[in-house]
Amino acid sequence: MPTLKCPSCDQILTLSDSTWQCESGHRFDRARRGYTNLLLAQHRRSRSPGDDKDMVQARTAFLELGRYQPLAEMLLSKLPAEPEGDWLDLGCGEGWYTERFARQLGAEQGVGVDISKFAIDAAAKRNKALTWLVASGARLPLFDQSMQRVVVLFTRLFTDDIARVLKPGGELIVVGTGEHHLMPLREALYEDVRQSGFDAGKFLDDRFSLIDSEEVTFEWTPADEQELQNLLTMTPHHWRAKPSAKADIGKLAGKAMPAHFIVQRWARVINS
Ligand SMILES: C[S@@+](CC[C@H](N)C(=O)[O-])C[C@H]1O[C@@H](n2cnc3c(N)ncnc32)[C@H](O)[C@@H]1O
Ligand SMILES: [Zn+2]
Repeated sequence: MPTLKCPSCDQILTLSDSTWQCESGHRFDRARRGYTNLLLAQHRRSRSPGDDKDMVQARTAFLELGRYQPLAEMLLSKLPAEPEGDWLDLGCGEGWYTERFARQLGAEQGVGVDISKFAIDAAAKRNKALTWLVASGARLPLFDQSMQRVVVLFTRLFTDDIARVLKPGGELIVVGTGEHHLMPLREALYEDVRQSGFDAGKFLDDRFSLIDSEEVTFEWTPADEQELQNLLTMTPHHWRAKPSAKADIGKLAGKAMPAHFIVQRWARVINS
């Protein structure tokens, strides 16, 4: 199991019964569901940071349809077939991908971190052997150079902390959306849909070097308005789009919807 760091004093946390504790006596209870909240109140910007309950439920309902399975398969093909060391899914959400990664990388070696307690509560139901933490990507409760691999899907890149926790030579896999992603949906929501494709290089520095960058494109047909509303609710369009435009997206049911993802692998440069 990955070694956890006390968010108050940076010492090692050890688990006994259902409590993580450091030598200074800071204690963090593990919830019955199996996750631990290591986000200190003073590091929270709001009472419930991150995705809310509706967004988490919408993401679960959508991902469980398997529409993004081609992306999951491509990602699994980029991962080693056997466990290789500790790994982190940062901004893991409700854990649909994390649970799949664990089948190859090992659940015991895995940590899923998200700032949303609703997301982590849902994720913890998926796999009891994984370490699920409510924490911020900006202050990971993990030790320097402890992770062989960090995966970040559709989440902001916290470059400094990712560089800190990765072992030299370790790997970062980042996934973002390409310019054609959900184009009909975006056209229905906005007048101006211009958007450039994702490039993690905009956020990373010379502590990382690009191994490869690949695109994943496919189409699927949303079955009904509910599926489209779930898709909308799990994306940032949920906040950005006008309510009148959002109410109208049912018209896209039964029509082809393109998915366009960019998957980049970066190595943590040794000696930097
Ligand atoms: C678009 S979702 C992606 C979830 C998951 N990776 C997936 O693809 O299904 C982004 C996630 O980042 C989380 N998040 C936002 N700010 C964060 C932070 N500072 N630290 C960790 N997670 C954060 C949100 O709560 C949300 O679950
Ligand atoms: Zn402590």
